[in-house]
Amino acid sequence: MKFFIDTANLDQIKEAQALGILDGVTTNPSLMAKEGITGHDNIMKHYKTICEIVDGDVSAEVIATDYDGMVSEGEALADLDPQIVVKLPMIADGVKACKYFSDKGIKTNVTLIFSAGQALLAAKAGATYMSPFIGRLDDISTDGLGLIEEIRLIYDNYGYETQILAASVRHTMHIIDCAKIGADVMTGPLSAIKGLLKHPLTDIGLAQFLADYKKGN
Ligand code: G3P
Repeated sequence: MKFFIDTANLDQIKEAQALGILDGVTTNPSLMAKEGITGHDNIMKHYKTICEIVDGDVSAEVIATDYDGMVSEGEALADLDPQIVVKLPMIADGVKACKYFSDKGIKTNVTLIFSAGQALLAAKAGATYMSPFIGRLDDISTDGLGLIEEIRLIYDNYGYETQILAASVRHTMHIIDCAKIGADVMTGPLSAIKGLLKHPLTDIGLAQFLADYKKGN
């Protein structure tokens, strides 16, 4: 399973990259705003900086909600760097724009997916990635991981190559469950990724090894 970090925070992206396990970055307008990155030029510059830090795919979201606007914004984003993946919302014009970019060989990520039907549309439009938001479904007492299972089944039934990018991941168990189900990618916060490191027996075992080494030296 690929690991993407879901943030626009450069320090966190650098930390995940330095860990050696990072496959890419996802961002959205809310994550950009959280870092105080505003205005078209600053946002474009920030995407470029992220591409310089990481080796993998970097999802950059369009703001337009009409087909022509999405195509022109998406083209400008794709021109920034070959690592850029054009992120499009799951609305009718987003599906049309996804097909346009797929036909041109430009990578896409269809976002704000909350149902199996939406997942089918993203695959049929040739999306490279599609992002079901599991945490936000859990927030409304709906089984987010259950949706990942449904989409995995549907995509396997037909051999769709669109990658399931489990998004709105909130904690380590989401990551582990996504891996069990067979999500292709998960994107989550640094805290969830680093949470995978933790086990008290690892800490106790290491402390014991070091104490025993000191006894003999
Ligand atoms: O990847 C989608 C993500 O940014 C949304 O996460 O935690 O705001 O639901 P969250």
